[in-house]
Amino acid sequence: MNTITGKAVVAGVVGAPVRHSLSPVLHNAWIAEAGLDAAYVPFAPPSDGFARLVHGLRGGVIRGLNVTLPFKEEALALADEASPRAAAAAAANLLVFREDGSVFADNTDGLGLLAAFAAQAPGFSPTAAPVVILGAGGAARGAAAAFVEAGAQVRIVNRTLARAEAIADALGRVSAFPLSRAGDAFAGAGAIVNATSAGLADEAGLDLPLEASPQGCVVMDMVYKPLKTPLLVNAEASGRRVVDGLEMLIGQAAPSFEAFFGRPPPANVDVRALALAALEQKS
Ligand code: ATR
Repeated sequence: MNTITGKAVVAGVVGAPVRHSLSPVLHNAWIAEAGLDAAYVPFAPPSDGFARLVHGLRGGVIRGLNVTLPFKEEALALADEASPRAAAAAAANLLVFREDGSVFADNTDGLGLLAAFAAQAPGFSPTAAPVVILGAGGAARGAAAAFVEAGAQVRIVNRTLARAEAIADALGRVSAFPLSRAGDAFAGAGAIVNATSAGLADEAGLDLPLEASPQGCVVMDMVYKPLKTPLLVNAEASGRRVVDGLEMLIGQAAPSFEAFFGRPPPANVDVRALALAALEQKS
């Protein structure tokens, strides 16, 4: 355990709820290994209290915050300045508090998504074949923006077609499909990314025609609890490569750490094992 002195740099994560967040586990393990005089702590304001928290922290009281549900859109709206990738995602998962009192919004979720593919599906290229995103909420828009930025053609499949069309209008190089035409979207796809909330909270997952995708299609699920979602189990059973949401979580945390503490996280900490152990304890 590091000694935290009066000079410690403080960062944190804000969400509602935040108690199951794995971010403190990841960041504090990196802080300890790097020997930093720093701490990373959770904040759980009431759902109407996010703006008060952000305004209270202006001026560099703490260095920055990761932002999780349901505050990502509000975080972008409250910031004085935003990175192009946060603007494209229409959401921020990272706020940096500058000493002049201003707040800078960024989004590292897209970096995390691409890092997860690089780690678990080596050789995957986002430009080789269209990428299918399932869903049209905030998570889906962020994923679509990241893949468009990486040069991909994106197909959004959603139960409510109008929401998919709204993302297509906003981002360009994106086409929209209703869920009933998922098979058409899967034809020739290089990847399928689940960004819906279906299957969460013990709801039944989506019934998807995976066989309509090429055998080489990589299947990814942003949900990491369970780590192997029914979608990933089905994809693996049919011989397809899979990418999990925990790797994306770790992939977004690394550039966040660098924004807070001015250096990349140490490479020699098995944060995936620590996160898996924390997930086990919670189940
Ligand atoms: P977030 O902003 O966290 O991504 P959201 O805005 O609630 O979440 O979006 C959830 C996504 O999951 C939406 O795309 C939703 O489809 P609709 O736009 O048609 O509502 C999708 N979703 C949730 N439950 C679903 C279900 N049972 N079947 C199909 N799609 C579902």
